Amino acid sequence: MRTIAVVNQKGGCGKTITSINLSAFLAREQRRVLLVDMDPQGHATLGLLTDAAQPSRTMYEVFLPDAGRPPTGLGDVIRPVRENLDVAPSDILLSAIPETLAGRVGREDILSEAMASVEGRYDYVIVDCPPNVGLLTFNTLKACSEAIVPMDPSFFSLHGLGKLLETIEVLAKETDHHIAVRALVTLYSGRSAFAKAVLDEIRRHLDGRHFETVIRYSVKLAEAASHGVPIAHYSRDCVGFDDYRALAVEVLQQEAAMRQRERVTIKRNATGASARDDGAGSSVPAVTPEGVMFTIEAPDAERVQLAGDFNNWTLDGNDMEAMDGVWKKVVKLPPGRYRYRYVVDGRWQNDPLNTTVEPSPYGGEDSVLVMDERVATAG
Ligand SMILES: Nc1ncnc2c1ncn2[C@@H]1O[C@H](COP(=O)(O)OP(=O)(O)O)[C@@H](O)[C@H]1O
Ligand SMILES: [Mg+2]
Repeated sequence: MRTIAVVNQKGGCGKTITSINLSAFLAREQRRVLLVDMDPQGHATLGLLTDAAQPSRTMYEVFLPDAGRPPTGLGDVIRPVRENLDVAPSDILLSAIPETLAGRVGREDILSEAMASVEGRYDYVIVDCPPNVGLLTFNTLKACSEAIVPMDPSFFSLHGLGKLLETIEVLAKETDHHIAVRALVTLYSGRSAFAKAVLDEIRRHLDGRHFETVIRYSVKLAEAASHGVPIAHYSRDCVGFDDYRALAVEVLQQEAAMRQRERVTIKRNATGASARDDGAGSSVPAVTPEGVMFTIEAPDAERVQLAGDFNNWTLDGNDMEAMDGVWKKVVKLPPGRYRYRYVVDGRWQNDPLNTTVEPSPYGGEDSVLVMDERVATAG
């Protein structure tokens, strides 16, 4: 059973539409699919169950302690949608769960225990997350071994992704639970140069940890969602249909590669700082044949400089170049361990995409780049 969280703390980036349409296309390919709605707003539930307004048992009861005897299991709340597709509905009461369970031992493992009880009934469990990283999202991350991160190509998407990767790394470090993360670019409008630049940036930074499929902006997708149906039941003559079908194909292709699936692992280096290593030689900043490419998104900045121990922390002559709001500088560096910071309009800050940091002797944190021979020559 593949367990996939559709997660991003940002709202409106396409989590629910992705959960619904990916589930529907996988079901069409004869996979048995359960969509678990973990968002108290219940949009996925509304999008699949036409009678969702009628009272029924929901994920709230699965999470509620002492809800009754016997306690409510995941199997008790599951509702059939159509052939091969079931949904575990949510409702607004779910929003009270983090407070209700505060301080309770094991409160982060409720969903993984619930999902273990339906192991074997499904080929895929897709979980639609709420737009935050509270207890409900944490339950989801612990219950899933894969994550799809829908990202609209906006100012904040790359920064948000850095934060999410950090959460997932904390989880890996504290619980030894590893999740294969892949970003999915959604709401893409190829007409804007900015969207193109962000897409390039996402691909460069993620170094393979993204879907090749890009979900384009499609009015029909939004219309289908508002009618409570997956796109395949609304219109087949639109880019939304083509794109979500392509996504499902990509997900199915991964079935074969599952065994050697890439994992996000935590590698501790000598100083105890953590570095991300997906085993493929990727790094933030990106190492290119021309040198190390430092990048930071700062669309409103007038001037951005790069300071590090490799240039004696001097700002003179270390200006970065802007392109569509993304600032770049390529620096030739031999393999080694470097500390650096960006200076955005005079304000020093660390690299939002790099989770490896160390306290700076001058206050705040420096970003750390470790480039060994292997990464340095990976190009
Ligand atoms: N590719 C797309 N094209 C057009 N509209 C979209 C697309 N993806 C999402 N939307 C619309 O954007 C809004 C937010 O999408 P949704 O899936 O609900 O995001 P989230 O669950 O992340 O909050 C919805 O109104 C949805 O219909
Ligand atoms: Mg949603």
